[in-house]
Amino acid sequence: MTQDKTSQDRVVIFDTTLRDGEQSPGATMTHAEKLEIASLLDDMGVDIIEAGFPIASEGDFNAVSEIAKNADNAVICGLARAQIGDIDRCWEAVKGAKRPRIHTFIGTSPLHRAIPNLTMDEMAERIEQTVTHARNLCDNVQWSPMDATRTELDYLYRVVEIAIKSGATTINIPDTVGYTAPRESADLIAKLIENVPGADTITFATHCHNDLGMATANSLAAVEAGARQIECTINGLGERAGNTALEEVVMALKVRNDIMPFQTGIDSTKIMNISRRVAAVSGFPVQFNKAIVGKNAFAHESGIHQDGMLKNAETFEIMRPEDVGLSETNLVMGKHSGRAALRDKLEQLGFEVGDNQLKDVFVRFKALADRKKEIFDDDLIALMRTSSDPEDERLKIEKLAVRCGTEGPQVADLVMTIDGERHMTTQTGDGPVDATFNAVKALFPHDARLQLYQVHAVTEGTDAQATVSVRMEEAGRIVTGQSADTDTVVASAKAYVHALNRLLVRREKSGTDKAEISYKDVS
Ligand code: KIV
Ligand code: ZN
Repeated sequence: MTQDKTSQDRVVIFDTTLRDGEQSPGATMTHAEKLEIASLLDDMGVDIIEAGFPIASEGDFNAVSEIAKNADNAVICGLARAQIGDIDRCWEAVKGAKRPRIHTFIGTSPLHRAIPNLTMDEMAERIEQTVTHARNLCDNVQWSPMDATRTELDYLYRVVEIAIKSGATTINIPDTVGYTAPRESADLIAKLIENVPGADTITFATHCHNDLGMATANSLAAVEAGARQIECTINGLGERAGNTALEEVVMALKVRNDIMPFQTGIDSTKIMNISRRVAAVSGFPVQFNKAIVGKNAFAHESGIHQDGMLKNAETFEIMRPEDVGLSETNLVMGKHSGRAALRDKLEQLGFEVGDNQLKDVFVRFKALADRKKEIFDDDLIALMRTSSDPEDERLKIEKLAVRCGTEGPQVADLVMTIDGERHMTTQTGDGPVDATFNAVKALFPHDARLQLYQVHAVTEGTDAQATVSVRMEEAGRIVTGQSADTDTVVASAKAYVHALNRLLVRREKSGTDKAEISYKDVS
């Protein structure tokens, strides 16, 4: 039995928010943001953190190595294609961890085999060489046959056996395109356990994508059939419809432990905080009705305060809000609240702010309190989503005045600084936001295409802040910008400029950080 084999009722949580999640177009996080999320994951009891794909870029490599050095408890894993150079680079990045892991993979389904143009035998040989190489470097090796759920069963048995014989300690079975269904997911794991020699010496993992909305169900079904590692991301972040959501599998195993008697090491009270942080740094807001972490997920949050609920919370709730770290009273502060109280509240919400950041947030908090009588948790979270990173300040809105109403065209007068120099313009548009965006574009001409413009009211009431998310694309680079303000047009302008600032950073980095290899470049 290898050191990686887990006890029978313990399910290992492998979080890939920083690898598969971050790979989602537009979800790119900065170095500091990745370190912060990794530290929150470690702190909440995630067993294994897949910190990135070291060969992809200098930035990925540096993030994985620093996360590896900082982690207290979690195993730190890096991803590598089935290539010696990838595996060496991955080992360089993770070897500073107390408990490193190399995760190497190759696409084994007919469609994936066709890309590097390998025969079945050639691929089998490549698997043997690369897994052996990884195992010579590190005693904790995970191997994945990408697109396993569309791979011929006999071939899957064959390659899994080779990977085990070559030293893999965990075999991950990815449903790469979210194609499988719960019974099939369970059957596949059961068959592998039954038919592959050596299967009893390793841990099987399940890695599901959510294209048909079945990722959580498929992961749990795999566990019932014998898998003991679930690969997942916070908020289900990931390409297309995302990955299995960590909070969903963890809470399902907790709430329905009567029928799924498995344990995880996750402190579920840390779920809300990390969910908010991942939403903030990735620029992917959580949908209101998302299970566990959505704004409406709990009866008291969604305004169900009828009789039954007041008499007995269990009428509508199968778990308590505090089990996931949601506090019931969320009326927080007003204009007389001080700096210490603000820091205290931000800490409760999962934000650790240094003195300089606190100074900046406090100024913005006071400005908001002048405009809005009551400030709620959600207002503070929105405030924290508005970046105060100096990298995000090359373009800055100084002044904006908009004329709008029933008689068009709408007009925006804009003053903006670009690298410290003031510029101004007046532009018209089809609505106040269009006029404002036209004004930004007149002062800072660019070819980036607006892919998404989204507005949400943070709280109830007509004085509520609006949070605006903007996603833009330029030459394959996708960036998101966000801002919040009680004035929707101001929030829109700031979110747009935030996205442009991030684009400028990406443009600069593409000189030094140029590999930009995707794990889909399999050959
Ligand atoms: O979905 C997938 O197949 C992956 C692999 C790289 C494990 O993310
Ligand atoms: Zn994946």
